Amino acid sequence: MPVLSLIACAAGGIHGLRPSLVEPLVRDGWQVAITLTPTAGTWLSGNGEAAALAELTGLAVRWNSRLPGEPRPHPEPDLCAVVPATANAVAKLALGISDNQAMTAANEMIGRPDVPVLAFPCINLAHTRHPAWAGHLAALRAADVNLLVGEDIWPLTTPRKEPGLPWARILQEIRAY
Ligand SMILES: Cc1cc2nc3c(=O)[nH]c(=O)nc-3n(C[C@H](O)[C@H](O)[C@H](O)COP(=O)(O)O)c2cc1C
Repeated sequence: MPVLSLIACAAGGIHGLRPSLVEPLVRDGWQVAITLTPTAGTWLSGNGEAAALAELTGLAVRWNSRLPGEPRPHPEPDLCAVVPATANAVAKLALGISDNQAMTAANEMIGRPDVPVLAFPCINLAHTRHPAWAGHLAALRAADVNLLVGEDIWPLTTPRKEPGLPWARILQEIRAY
């Protein structure tokens, strides 16, 4: 059973994570090990989604680090997906900042040649106009992160055809590994 390490950040649209991404992947036979940023953990524990995701995947949904000496609660990943990635997380990953469990795990996988990493930045036009944005994308591309960006995936200057995140495209990318 392939293992997907799914890192989810506090971006609008995260409420679609279970029905639109995790349920289809579990049906496909993926083991999905979910780590949330602290803010995403607050959001998804507050509405019962973290518990529902844990029941669905059979694995703990993490947003805190383990204590030294505690075993790792997640299996070794075959693939890592940062979905959704906030502008904040993109900046941290580009710089290697690991100030929470989600960033720690994602940064480690970016540095591991044996674990491919893809990321869907769920961002708005203002995020992309920040002077550091282009450099962050370039740094992640140079590290072989498969960035799901562009008007065809997540339009920023034209109206979106469908509500919610581009789940079908994200699923397609994960299934292609
Ligand atoms: C309702 C709501 C929706 C948000 N949506 C986004 C978003 O789509 N993309 C984004 O980059 N930030 C978004 N933010 C801001 C992030 O939650 C904020 O920058 C947070 O610090 C990100 O934390 P994280 O990267 O550790 O998950 C949103 C905030 C709120 C309250």
